[in-house]
Amino acid sequence: PAPHVPVICIDGPTASGKGTLASETARRLGYHYLDSGALYRITALAALRAGLALEPEHEQRIARLARDLPIRFVDGTVLLAGEDIGEAIRSEDAGMNASKVSALPAVRSALVALQQGFRTLPGLVADGRDMGTVIFRDAPLKVFLTASAARRAERRHKQLISKGVSVTIDTLRADLEARDARDTQRAVAPLKPAQDALLLDNSDQTIEQSVAQVLAWWDERQPFAAA
Ligand code: DC
Repeated sequence: PAPHVPVICIDGPTASGKGTLASETARRLGYHYLDSGALYRITALAALRAGLALEPEHEQRIARLARDLPIRFVDGTVLLAGEDIGEAIRSEDAGMNASKVSALPAVRSALVALQQGFRTLPGLVADGRDMGTVIFRDAPLKVFLTASAARRAERRHKQLISKGVSVTIDTLRADLEARDARDTQRAVAPLKPAQDALLLDNSDQTIEQSVAQVLAWWDERQPFAAA
């Protein structure tokens, strides 16, 4: 842990808008940004490419892959062994595969140090499922972001349609509810608000409103704020 380095955790379910909120908050504060879900997505991709099943029988082998992931983050792109895999890890399938490997306890342990290494000055905004409950337990600000399943499916649908992917809202909603169920019911580090998390429901908020809320909460917590 690096208690002197500020960190803001933003956890929440699939398609709640965590990524947008966290990266924009990081940009405003000039902090680093950790998209922890990307690490599970990359691990799943690497495991499938190695011919492994995303199941408990291959847990130790996937964990070994996760511990030594040859990844680099360069200007907003993710490189796996030098290859840009940004697109490959963004699909709905990649999200579902990530959810499967993330339920394996050894895989989660293998990624702890990598995630904590992102906590460097001037500060970090981290998004995921267990940032506030496991990875950065001492974070001074933890936000649990939610939105109704209907609203999340609707937003995801808009995004996909604009990318030319054809899919129905009902399919998306069923998929994201299945992923929520797996993420909240797993034995290790399940998705749930940290005890000291502040709840933010963005169903009826614009991105700007959510960002403003998080920045206001952060201001209240600044030890150096004018007394
Ligand atoms: O945030 P995301 O949709 O990119 O995450 C993909 C999957 O990875 C998610 O369904 C569960 C898993 N995950 C996790 O278990 N813990 C995290 N901190 C982030 C993601």
